[in-house]
Amino acid sequence: MVNSFFLALMFIIILIVGAMIALFLSSILLVPAVMTPIKIVKEVLGAMDLNEKSRLLDLGSGDGRVLVFAKKLYGVKGVGYEISPLLVLYSRLFKLRHLGLSRGVVNVTGNLFDADFGSFDRIFAHLNRRALGALQKKLILELQPGSIFYSYRYPLPNFQPTNEFVLSNGVHLYAYTKDSFTLD
Ligand SMILES: C[S@@+](CC[C@H](N)C(=O)[O-])C[C@H]1O[C@@H](n2cnc3c(N)ncnc32)[C@H](O)[C@@H]1O
Repeated sequence: MVNSFFLALMFIIILIVGAMIALFLSSILLVPAVMTPIKIVKEVLGAMDLNEKSRLLDLGSGDGRVLVFAKKLYGVKGVGYEISPLLVLYSRLFKLRHLGLSRGVVNVTGNLFDADFGSFDRIFAHLNRRALGALQKKLILELQPGSIFYSYRYPLPNFQPTNEFVLSNGVHLYAYTKDSFTLD
C-alpha cells in the first residue's frame, strides 16, 4: 500500500518536473509559431522578385502560407521545413483551401537545419535571433551565387544585408546574397 502510494507520487513528480523542463526548453530553443500576416506575406513575396522558375524554400514554414501564396500569385514551386507535425498537417488544409489539389507546394515535417540550401534560389525565414545565429554557418557554406536569403524582422547577427525593405507593418525584411558573406 505504502509502496504503491510512493510509486504514484514519484510518477506525478516526474511528470511535473518533465513538463517544466519541456516548457523551459521549448521557450529557449523553439521559435514561436506566430505566422506572418497574409497581407505582409504578399509584400514579402513582391520584394522577392519571383518568377515561375524560382525555387523557394521556407525555413520554419508553419502553416505553409508563404509557399501557398508564392504558388498562387507567382506560380512558384516551394518547399517548406516545419518542425511541428501538427502545423504540417494543418498546412495541408490551408493549401487545399487556397490552391485546391494543385501541385507545387511541399511542406514537410523536418528540421530546417537538414534542408539543402544549395537547391533553392530564394530562401525565406521568419525566425528569432537565436535561430538566425545558428543558421549563419550553413548559409555561408550553402547559399549559391545568385540566390537570396530573406529574413523577416531580424537581421543575421554578424553580417550586413545587401538589401533591406520596410514593410507596411513597419517590420524590416533583410536580404542577403553570397556577397554579404564575403565582403567586409
Ligand atoms: C514565426 S513562425 C513562421 C511561420 C511561417 N514561415 C510564416 O512566415 O508565417 C516560425 C516557425 O518555425 C518553426 N520552427 C522552429 N524551429 C524549427 C526547426 N528547427 N525546424 C523547422 N521548423 C522550425 C516553428 O514551429 C514555427 O512554425
